[in-house]
Amino acid sequence: MSLSRDVADDDSDACSLMSVSSGFAPSMASSATTADWDMRSASRPPSVLSMTSSLRQNAYRHEYGRGINNYSEVYRLPADEEELSRLDKQHIMFMEVMGKYAPPMEEVLADDTPGEIKTCVDLGCGSGSWILDVARDFPHCSAVAVDLVPMQVLNMPPNCRSEVDDINLGLQHFYGDFNVVHARLISSGIRDYAGLINHIALTVRPGGLVDLSEFDFQVYGTNKKPIPIDQHASAVARWMNLVHQAVARQGGEPDAANHIHGWLRDHDAFEDVHYRRWWFQTTTWNQGTDPESRRQNRYGAAMRDDILAFLHSGRPLLLGSGCPEHILNDVEDSARKELQEGRVPGFILMQHVYGRRKH
Ligand SMILES: C[S@@+](CC[C@H](N)C(=O)[O-])C[C@H]1O[C@@H](n2cnc3c(N)ncnc32)[C@H](O)[C@@H]1O
Repeated sequence: MSLSRDVADDDSDACSLMSVSSGFAPSMASSATTADWDMRSASRPPSVLSMTSSLRQNAYRHEYGRGINNYSEVYRLPADEEELSRLDKQHIMFMEVMGKYAPPMEEVLADDTPGEIKTCVDLGCGSGSWILDVARDFPHCSAVAVDLVPMQVLNMPPNCRSEVDDINLGLQHFYGDFNVVHARLISSGIRDYAGLINHIALTVRPGGLVDLSEFDFQVYGTNKKPIPIDQHASAVARWMNLVHQAVARQGGEPDAANHIHGWLRDHDAFEDVHYRRWWFQTTTWNQGTDPESRRQNRYGAAMRDDILAFLHSGRPLLLGSGCPEHILNDVEDSARKELQEGRVPGFILMQHVYGRRKH
């Protein structure tokens, strides 16, 4: 079993993992979080919030003990401190395994065009860990973080701003604005992912980069096939299946991960499309003692801790979408025990596609 990237087809990228360090100096920090109304002239008014403290408070509501965005009925995972901390740790795990940026990033964001300020947007930025890295690593660029809630950062780099918006309402106000459009793990809040890619095609500038990563709310077996869901399935697989069903019930696209490659590859607007995927062990179940098995178990431990935190994050989504509490408690307790014991094999599959906008 390999943690590392799997080559899936002719379009797959065969180069090795990128370094996690870019060598760019961090920029000066400020505490500004603003919405730029000029850039949003074409957006629908109800999709826009400015960042006053009362509106910031109104961006959240409490459900089942967690802070949830108050804006979308589709995305029902929390947006509170506990979740932001989970996302920060998850970001470090992804960076170490998948690399910090897609390979064309430095070329696309190079400060090489007099009179043009290079721009990057992160759709569904979460805690902002990725877009904050971009703002610091590419201080000459303008970085925009979009999410259903304002980004909670005290030291916002001066070249980064946070916008509150529901991507499902369209990206017309962003058309032609960005050299890089990035999104990671947002499918559970997206009603029509293929439609979103059409919007992204018009948002990214000619020669620009689109960079999408998703997972499909399934657990895979050692045969790299989804574990069939029945009473014999692992508890983690059964719990993940409950989340898959809940995401679909709320109107999200839990299977988008399995289509993003085809959607980008077959789209008229894109070229040079590359697909990569990574298998993460769900726990430290690997029995091998060789260095690669130990490496897989190290990231298996990080993924186990991520899933343990995700078990708690999933409660508002699952209970709010009708999963009976006694069933959820039962599956959740079994999944927690299974993760902590670390004996049942399983994989999570991360899928990554990136490509360039045709000129
Ligand atoms: C699982 S988190 C991932 C965050 C971040 N991309 C990362 O990889 O760490 C999903 C994020 O997407 C945001 N999101 C989901 N659906 C959205 C939508 N329709 N519009 C804007 N943001 C959305 C959520 O609010 C949440 O912050």
